[in-house]
Amino acid sequence: MKLLGLTREEVKKALREGKVTIAVYGLGKMGLPLAAVFADNRAKVIGVDINEKVVEMVNRGENHVKEEPGLSELIKRNVEAGRLKATTDGVWAAKQADVMIILVPTLADDRGNLKLEPVYDVAKKIAKGLEKGDIVITEATMPPGTTESLVPILEESGLKLGEFGLAHAPERTMTGTAIRDITGQYPKIVGASDEKTLEAVIGIYETINKKGVIPMSSIKAAEAVKVFEGVYRDVNIALANELALWCEEHGLDAIEVFTAANTQPYCHLHMPGAGVGGHCIPIYPWFVINLAEKTNPRLIKTAREINDSMPHHMVELTIRGLNEVGRSLKGSNILVLGLTFRGGVREFTKSPAIPIIKELKEWGARVYAYDPLCTSEDAERFGAEWKEDFRDVDAIVIVTDHKEFKSLNLEEIAGQVRSKVIIDGRNAVNPKVAKELGFVYLGVGRV
Ligand SMILES: NC(=O)c1ccc[n+]([C@@H]2O[C@H](COP(=O)([O-])OP(=O)(O)OC[C@H]3O[C@@H](n4cnc5c(N)ncnc54)[C@H](O)[C@@H]3O)[C@@H](O)[C@H]2O)c1
Repeated sequence: MKLLGLTREEVKKALREGKVTIAVYGLGKMGLPLAAVFADNRAKVIGVDINEKVVEMVNRGENHVKEEPGLSELIKRNVEAGRLKATTDGVWAAKQADVMIILVPTLADDRGNLKLEPVYDVAKKIAKGLEKGDIVITEATMPPGTTESLVPILEESGLKLGEFGLAHAPERTMTGTAIRDITGQYPKIVGASDEKTLEAVIGIYETINKKGVIPMSSIKAAEAVKVFEGVYRDVNIALANELALWCEEHGLDAIEVFTAANTQPYCHLHMPGAGVGGHCIPIYPWFVINLAEKTNPRLIKTAREINDSMPHHMVELTIRGLNEVGRSLKGSNILVLGLTFRGGVREFTKSPAIPIIKELKEWGARVYAYDPLCTSEDAERFGAEWKEDFRDVDAIVIVTDHKEFKSLNLEEIAGQVRSKVIIDGRNAVNPKVAKELGFVYLGVGRV
């Protein structure tokens, strides 16, 4: 049932009566939970992905996003009820659907060049199945202006904007908490091409989100909201990192200082660390930098540089720690703890572990790695040897904030290693306990 022209209440009713078909393009860590949540609210959902394995798994009622609590049950329940299915055929899905949601990766390379091909690929497929009254929504984080740049592609359908609706409703969540967040942790932000589309899209998201919807004055404003959230994080982490380096120079413990400063309500110092990874926070600043023509976003550029320099700082700390026990990197065995970019998530995009391993090896160290979410193949892919114990290790370098690294048994480890050096990039270890056991402990901002 087409939703354009209906009130939000009529949209909600139609969705809950199973009269609306929604196609979700991209069944990854964001798209799959969204598809399952819509299906659980009685929409008919077709998930579309170019990865055949993902499509086959969903059609068998299986979940490939293991980090997402509750997702396996949602998928099983809704596939069995016939409300959720998946396909690789994006054109067919567009022909069936009344609402098409684009949730494929939007990335940038290391020099900030945007890589939006997946979005344009999906838009071309949607255009081949677009019908009057359909609504196309982008949920992937977009450089502001990108959603509207899809109009000429969508109009290749023969329809004009207005005959179909276009909107942006950014995914405001992260891997591992997607279901919680999209069903009611934060309000949904929505910008649309016209009032009719806005009204219908408000109805669509009010159906699944208990916190409601914040309507924006334009699609571009809605795109800016999500991008700015990421920029805020990146710039504030850079500030924390810069102050942490300053604390190191002045013999202060950054965590002690930040914790005390943050008791004042206008201060929100973030955690310093080994570097910023993932396909969100280090990517979105480039969306702003790249689109600036008259302005020069120099704070945002500098923040990127600072955060990108932190893996190198981790190597510097490792050299310093080893020197304190009379060793150098050449010939030392280094165990890197954590390959993923953040704790609890199997995701490697821009993980600080990658440049850290590379640089440690360039200095002549033998580099081992362990990560509770990874396999030996992952370690080898990034140039490290897999190691599940601490025997003969000269320095332990903690890169990822996995919960397992916050409860390391240092007493046991002290009995296994060759030299007692811990380089803590995630504030995982209690420095006092480490020092009492004879470890040289160096952390970011904690020298
Ligand atoms: N992961 C997060 O924490 C997060 C948070 C907020 C927003 N986002 C946004 O959501 C987007 C998607 O993120 P994700 O974590 O789900 O990514 P992901 O890598 O887990 O999944 C993306 C999926 O899209 C599929 N895909 C790629 N190109 C396609 C195409 N042309 N047609 C159909 N399917 C295609 C892939 O096969 C994959 O299954 C991100 O780029 C970002 O803009 C992500």
